[in-house]
This record gives sequence, structure tokens and C-alpha cells, in this order.
Amino acid sequence: MTSHTEYSIPFNRSSLVGRELDYVSEALRIGQIAGDQSFTKRCERLLEKVLEVPKALLTTSCTHALELAALLLDIQPGDQVIVPSFTFVSTVNAFVLRGARPVFTDIRRDTLNMDEAQVEGLLTPRTKAIVPVHYAGVGCEMDVITDIASRHGIPVIEDNAHGLFGSYRGRKLGTLGTFATLSFHETKNFTCGEGGALILNGARYIERAEILREKGTNRTQFFRGQVDKYTWVDIGSSYVMSDVLAAFLYGQLEVWQQIQDKRCRIWDYYDHQLRDWARERGVRTPFVPPHCAQAYHMYYLLLPSLEQRTALIEHLKRRGILSVFHYLPLHLSVMGQKLGGKPGACPVTEDVSARLLRLPFYNALSELEVEKVVASLLEF
Ligand SMILES: Cc1ncc(COP(=O)(O)O)c(C=O)c1O
Repeated sequence: MTSHTEYSIPFNRSSLVGRELDYVSEALRIGQIAGDQSFTKRCERLLEKVLEVPKALLTTSCTHALELAALLLDIQPGDQVIVPSFTFVSTVNAFVLRGARPVFTDIRRDTLNMDEAQVEGLLTPRTKAIVPVHYAGVGCEMDVITDIASRHGIPVIEDNAHGLFGSYRGRKLGTLGTFATLSFHETKNFTCGEGGALILNGARYIERAEILREKGTNRTQFFRGQVDKYTWVDIGSSYVMSDVLAAFLYGQLEVWQQIQDKRCRIWDYYDHQLRDWARERGVRTPFVPPHCAQAYHMYYLLLPSLEQRTALIEHLKRRGILSVFHYLPLHLSVMGQKLGGKPGACPVTEDVSARLLRLPFYNALSELEVEKVVASLLEF
């Protein structure tokens, strides 16, 4: 990755949006810097209230929330999980760590989301989970996916790293599967540098999730006064976020609507300014179905060819602007090929991956900066 300092407009730049530093100071002042203390609780209550879910658990990352989900589902060697090839490695690795074999779907040409029409044909008696990813914060076709899953008794885990506060047919993303995972990595709409959350949409897994997240102990119950000492009761690992980070995160989450409004303005500006230019040059801009309210996570362009994408990256670079491509098809990665992935298996993924370009998009992107990005594109 090229260092940000070479670019006057980086792809991403972290910034303070509210009271993050006050809250970090407060956590230090009151001496609560380990996990599961007051700021973690504040973040979790906020997520539970806005998403209207029974339980949100902050974790050290979205990767770890996915690992926690795989542990909760008791994924065993030889089990299969249905995943898109066009995603971040963690969507898949969390299950492969438990010995599962990924079964890759291609993506839809319009939203770049898991092609729900392929899912049913990929089910086998060993399928233990379906993991849709709401790419760019635009919802997958969840009615179809959850219908297949419930007819076959298979849990759905929404990898909602991009889509917090987006919705699908009026229902918030992350509330439609058995679990959902969130990311608060520095590139996300709301961040504390590194962080994530597991969302549990029913009571069934809550108690065990708390235990697995706390190194396999019933420490959470102990702190609630439900047991008089805490001990080792199950497998587990260390997935609890420090309250210093939770304090920072709370400073962002409490103004989530303001952040989303700002990102909506940036996204709309790109979209309005670039639409005609894109159409005339055979460049495709993002598609958001009318029944989806997107989360304004990303603005991307689909160039007509790999060569044109490379040329556009260079063109923007000469103007001090960093634009970046995104996922390489997982089925063709070194690991994916070891697992049996073959060229041509997911043709849309292979095609899109070579042509997609993401434009600078961050909370502190100023009007002048976004105008400069657009002006530079219009010169291309
Ligand atoms: C779809 C998706 N899932 C999971 C992750 C992993 O998130 P984290 O860095 O919080 O582990 C990412 C990271 O960008 C992602 O894009």
C-alpha cells in the first residue's frame, strides 16, 4: 500500500468527529481501560437500541467477531460454508480456521453482492452456514437467502463490515441473519482504529457468546453477580475490546446520524457529478436497488477494462489523489486454489475485481477535496 503522505488526497484519513478524546480521557481518569466496562456497555446499548437487537458484543475486530460466530456454530472439520468469492479474506478464514471448506458463490453484476440464485444449488448435507456480505453497505437479497436458509435449517451470518445503519426492505442490515458482524477498522464509517462487534439476533446464543468471547470463562456472569466466582466453562479466546478503544468508538457512534449525513453528501456529490461522464465512457457507477437504503460506505467505479483502471489510477496519482482497487477473487488466491478454486468458476467476480476502483471516501473529506477528485476524473 502506498504511504498516504505522497498524496494530498489519500484514499482514507482518520479524523475526530466528536468527543472521542474526552471519552478516552474519561476512561483513563476513572481507571477503566480493560474491556467490558462503561464505554463498551454504552456502545453496545447504543447498537442494541438503534438496531433493535437483543445483544451486541464489542470485539477486537470484525475478523474476531466472525471467528466467534464460527465457534458458536460449532463448525467442524469437513463442514461447508457458502461465501462469496468477492470479499475480504476474514469472511472465509474464520470458518477455514475451524476446518470448514468454503463453497464460493459468484456475485450479482448489479450490486456485486452474493448471487442468491446460486445458493440453493450449492447446499449439501454438510452446509453449516451461509455468509452474505453487504458489499459497499448495500443489502444482499436477504429475503431469498433467509428463505433458503430457514427451509434447510442453516444459519445465516451477515458480514456487515460495510453496512452498519443501512437497511433492506425497511429492516436494518445486521438484523436479518442469526448473527451479524461489524467492523470498526480505520477505513470504516465509524472507527476506533481496530475493532468490531458481534450482533446476536436471538436469545439462543447470547450466554455462550459471552463465555467464548471471555476466554471460555463465565466472567461476564460473575460481573453481573450471577455466579460467586468465575471459572473455565467452555472453549474460548480473547475477543474483548479495551474500553480505551470503546471510549473512542462511542465518540463516533453517538453522532452516527451526523456521520452518515456527511457521507451521504459526499456519495451523492460523486454520483451526480460523475454520472454523465461515466455513461459516455462506458464506466459503471454503483447501483443501489430501490428497496435498499445504503450505508454510504464506499464510492466505486467499474472501468471498461483493467488497462483503463490502471491508467486512471496513474492519472489520479499524478494529481495527488490515491484511488485503490478492492478484493482479488478469493477462489483464485493461493489458499483458494489449494482449496480447489479454478479460473472461470466465478466469472463475474473475476471480471469485476479487475475493473473496480474505489475513490477517496472518508468523514473528513472536504468539499474542496471532493471537487478536486471529480475535476481530475472529468479530465480523464
Ligand atoms: C467484508 C469484510 N469483512 C470483514 C473484514 C474484516 O474487518 P476487520 O479489519 O475489522 O477484522 C473486512 C475488512 O475490511 C471486510 O471488508
